[in-house]
Amino acid sequence: MKILSIETSCDETAISIVEAKGNIKNHQFKVLSNITLSQAKLHAKYGGVFPSLAKREHSRNLVPVLQKVLEQGFGKHKSQTPNYRQITNSKLQKIKQILKREPELLEQFLEFIPTIKKPAIDKIAVTYGPGLEPALWVGINFAKALSEVWSTTKRIPVVPVNHMEGHIASVLPLQNRGNSKSETLNPKQTQNSKLKKKLEIRDSSLEFPAVALLISGGHTELVLVKEWGDYKILGQTRDDAVGEVFDKVARMLDLPYPGGPEISRLADQARNLKPKIKNLINFPRPMINSPDLDFSFSGLKTAVLYHLQKYPAKTTEEKSLIAEEFELAVVEIFLRKIKKAIEQSGAKTLIVAGGVSANKFIRSEIERKFGKEIEILIPEFELSTDNALMIAIAGYLKILRKSKTPKNIKAEGNLSFN
Ligand code: KG4
Ligand code: ZN
Repeated sequence: MKILSIETSCDETAISIVEAKGNIKNHQFKVLSNITLSQAKLHAKYGGVFPSLAKREHSRNLVPVLQKVLEQGFGKHKSQTPNYRQITNSKLQKIKQILKREPELLEQFLEFIPTIKKPAIDKIAVTYGPGLEPALWVGINFAKALSEVWSTTKRIPVVPVNHMEGHIASVLPLQNRGNSKSETLNPKQTQNSKLKKKLEIRDSSLEFPAVALLISGGHTELVLVKEWGDYKILGQTRDDAVGEVFDKVARMLDLPYPGGPEISRLADQARNLKPKIKNLINFPRPMINSPDLDFSFSGLKTAVLYHLQKYPAKTTEEKSLIAEEFELAVVEIFLRKIKKAIEQSGAKTLIVAGGVSANKFIRSEIERKFGKEIEILIPEFELSTDNALMIAIAGYLKILRKSKTPKNIKAEGNLSFN
């Protein structure tokens, strides 16, 4: 089955095509194409994602990204003669209705679609939440319009996918299980054939129950995964998400958005200082000893702010020491809560996913601490941050569960597992 997937929940416009086979226990995925277009540079001047700008950029970029994805997945697929009849009058009216709030997208859609052959797609998976609602709507409406135009007597259904389930599923395309030294590629290479080959996955399965630590710009949660489709939040942040705090601390240090990778780079520098400077900075580890599995990061953020008010960081070295201690505080909190979650749940697999799982120090410390006692799955570096491939995989798992696809898919900004 070939799945086209669309992800627009935040500031990445992403589409992929995946060929999926197998059953719920043993699945195989072949990545035909996977493209992620990041808007990060545009949002950088606002210091975070600006929702209406994200929506506008998705509207503007979905058709060009689709075009590239189709070329990558199926080769040049230009129709010899534009197939304007593909869009019958009644379809045209429906499409205009579906995309009425996205005039720019509608215009590009009607220009591009008739020039190509209908691709061999069976299902369309799309993120419907959680995320920024205006951004989610663009992806959902685009999915609906494609389904409308490409459905013949055989319908091409739209499968709504939970973005966080996508992050969990992002660990499935692993070539080297348990090999933390697996090559990391530059995200810019996401489009090249080397990565496509690398992500051509063989059988993928994991042992349940699993515990998933999901860490991103909007979420910090520990989730019990009893099986695919059966999720329970064991604990979550009571205030800021960890990625958000990485971004805010980076801003305090005058580093560009997104701040996570910048903090990570600086903290690495501090760790590699020769001779090593003893880091005398000491930030709190909020809720590290609380009996539950919840998190709190706003106190840590404020501690960094107060520290900077007292001791403004001027040099890169001063900034790097702050980044190092901040990252260590985050890691120590994670290690403690993961340990508790594994003990409580009897998990056989530990999943760490979401944008912040791209952090090398967080990855290596979790592997060092738990690698001997439990199977740890962390996505390939380029699948940690938002992408459409994980949405295709989660979509396939949902199709296998024979979940009913609702007629009227709506964006759900606050969608949650519980
Ligand atoms: O999952 P994601 O791409 O988008 C959301 O669903 O939110 O996560 C984005 C977050 C941002 O806050 C970004 O700063 C953070 O992931 N991030 C990192 C790193 N790379 C991305 N945080 C820490 N270290 C990194 N290397
Ligand atoms: Zn995400």
